[in-house]
Amino acid sequence: METESRSGDSQRIGVRAAVRADEDAILALARRFSETRPAWRSAEEVDEGEMRVLRRVLAQPASHEAIFVAERDGVEGFVYVYAEPDFFTGEPHAHISEIAVARDGSGAGRALMAMAERWATDRGHRYVSLHVNAANERAARFYATLGYDLEWQRLNKRLSDVT
Ligand SMILES: CC(C)(COP(=O)(O)OP(=O)(O)OC[C@H]1O[C@@H](n2cnc3c(N)ncnc32)[C@H](O)[C@@H]1OP(=O)(O)O)[C@@H](O)C(=O)NCCC(=O)NCCS
Repeated sequence: METESRSGDSQRIGVRAAVRADEDAILALARRFSETRPAWRSAEEVDEGEMRVLRRVLAQPASHEAIFVAERDGVEGFVYVYAEPDFFTGEPHAHISEIAVARDGSGAGRALMAMAERWATDRGHRYVSLHVNAANERAARFYATLGYDLEWQRLNKRLSDVT
């Protein structure tokens, strides 16, 4: 499965399935998530969690998940998407777990989202879900531009005395 799209600077961005040789580039991009993490989470736990999950998927992807990379001269971004059941109906749908690009505004994000949505459509899913950290206003606007609307707000209470 491959797609191409026009970027903001009108060069073509290709999107393809990730391979193990993309690991270093993907893990470097995943470091962006510690920049936009919730304030109470440490950068270390976010980085370590990203590395653990993404390495596992690149090494042994299950049939219900995929990582795609956007490319121009090199890897410009990645998206990790998997299928999970709807709480109410049990129906599988696509969940976009992670997306990050090297340069904001290049069009790579849109191209990766289009690929994740195509993956979902090809699998017969009716909808795509994702989470966005409340402080990540840039990403929230990006998703709104692409037609995503708010369904849930996930709340946390830190139990700081519990060890
Ligand atoms: C969020 C992110 C993936 C967006 O990728 P991007 O490559 O900058 O997005 P694109 O350039 O493809 O933009 C796609 C569309 O969204 C719009 N858009 C992007 N950011 C926007 C913003 N902050 N406000 C309004 N619109 C925005 C663009 O204008 C574009 O619309 P257009 O094609 O009609 O011009 C990127 O900023 C990123 O990697 N952020 C750091 C990691 C992160 O926060 N990931 C999300 C975690 S939930």
